[in-house]
Amino acid sequence: MSALADPSLLAKYDVAGPRYTSYPTVPYWERTPSEAQWLERVRAALDAGGAGGAALYVHIPFCRTLCTFCGCNTRITRSHGFVAPYAQALLAELDLYRSRLGLAQLEFGELHFGGGTPTFLTAAELETLLEGLLRRARPRPGAIASIEADPRVTTAEQLQVLARYGFSRISLGVQDFDPRVQEIVNRVQSEQQVREITQGARACGFDSVNYDLIYGLPLQTRASIEMTMDAVCRLRPDRIALYGYAHVPWIKPGQRRFTESDLPQGEDRRALYERARERLERAGYREIGLDHFALESDPLWQALRAGTLHRNFMGYTSAFTRPLIGLGVSSIGDAGDAFVQNDKDLQRYEERVGQGELPIQRGHLLDTEDQVLRGHILRLMTRLATRWEQPAERTAYVQTAVQRLAEPAADGLVQIETDGCRVTDRGRAFLRNICMAFDARLARHRPDKELFSRVV
Ligand SMILES: C[S@@+](CC[C@H](N)C(=O)[O-])C[C@H]1O[C@@H](n2cnc3c(N)ncnc32)[C@H](O)[C@@H]1O
Ligand code: SF4
Repeated sequence: MSALADPSLLAKYDVAGPRYTSYPTVPYWERTPSEAQWLERVRAALDAGGAGGAALYVHIPFCRTLCTFCGCNTRITRSHGFVAPYAQALLAELDLYRSRLGLAQLEFGELHFGGGTPTFLTAAELETLLEGLLRRARPRPGAIASIEADPRVTTAEQLQVLARYGFSRISLGVQDFDPRVQEIVNRVQSEQQVREITQGARACGFDSVNYDLIYGLPLQTRASIEMTMDAVCRLRPDRIALYGYAHVPWIKPGQRRFTESDLPQGEDRRALYERARERLERAGYREIGLDHFALESDPLWQALRAGTLHRNFMGYTSAFTRPLIGLGVSSIGDAGDAFVQNDKDLQRYEERVGQGELPIQRGHLLDTEDQVLRGHILRLMTRLATRWEQPAERTAYVQTAVQRLAEPAADGLVQIETDGCRVTDRGRAFLRNICMAFDARLARHRPDKELFSRVV
């Protein structure tokens, strides 16, 4: 019986839990590195990565209007007065990295513009920022550049600038095509608008187009999500992220603007994902890990087949470049054995950079246990299986994880072997629950207030 046909399983495992874009998850970070410790780890990761260079993530927080479902770090404004000082702070932050690391130019294998809405910036503002960035950082041969774009504010001129500066991947926020759903979440955009940007991007040379979609939004029904998927299949992006709506109104009060009783729950919510999945698979898309899909021609599917798929703060990726240096307000960096997150307040971020300080607000130095468990969670998320072959990994914390898996194993969600475990087809819907068995920090300190959205 599939998970969908067994409502008791959905009821049992529909708890609050992390999405595991990192381990330890952000609420459990506790040992913030000093600036010197962070830079030491970035340097070590650059040395270990050899010719790969760094991955640079640049956060642009601005959006013109608030989509009420949004869980991202945004600054809602129509004013472009914020852009020049912010762009200046981004470049100043990059200068701090260059001078502290003693590098005339930082080399990068990946460059990601995320948000908020990077295409809030006009074509001219984007060009000025990119010009400044590329004077300070140089792409390695084969470097990949990608951007998140909102079709409602993206223009052909912006796409041309981006293509000229080497961007080849674009991710469009589509979310849902049903007018009732669009209305209630304050995100109205037509199929034609999305088509124009998709075609415009392809015409400029973008070779991978992703759509972000969400299931579990208010007023969505099985019929409405099928209608959305039919439109998506007509437009045929290379990749799709089908996120489960994360309802966290205690963190994002904007989510209180719709009625909770309009949110699909439990079995109804999972049915939305399953209907969408059926439609997408029928159109030739392949499911990747948790809530992602790709055509067989896309590097994400090829990475899955080759066993090289990776997952980081931005989700699944076919490239694996370390260190990840996050520039901008709230951006996250990852050096493998250390994480940092920048100040989340725009003004404080700019002030700290202006004072010549890396604007780190919090972070975490990973210990051996964190690193072993991170490896298992990452493999489960990307390969749906993990192994504990090395003697060092036959540790108390792995044994504890295996004990926690006894119940999911009895329910047929995971198969436990002598030297590893594997998620079953039935268990795919519960991948986050299975990863939670390896989350020693969560087990040690069960939150006494809500931290995460629901898992299923
Ligand atoms: C930075 S936005 C994408 C770019 C642009 N701002 C836009 O919306 O078109 C990142 C994506 O996160 C997803 N997202 C935002 N809030 C979410 C939530 N509460 N639950 C699930 N996904 C969410 C949306 O699919 C959104 O497209
Ligand atoms: S979904 Fe995108 S456009 Fe909407 S508020 Fe969030 S970041 Fe901004």
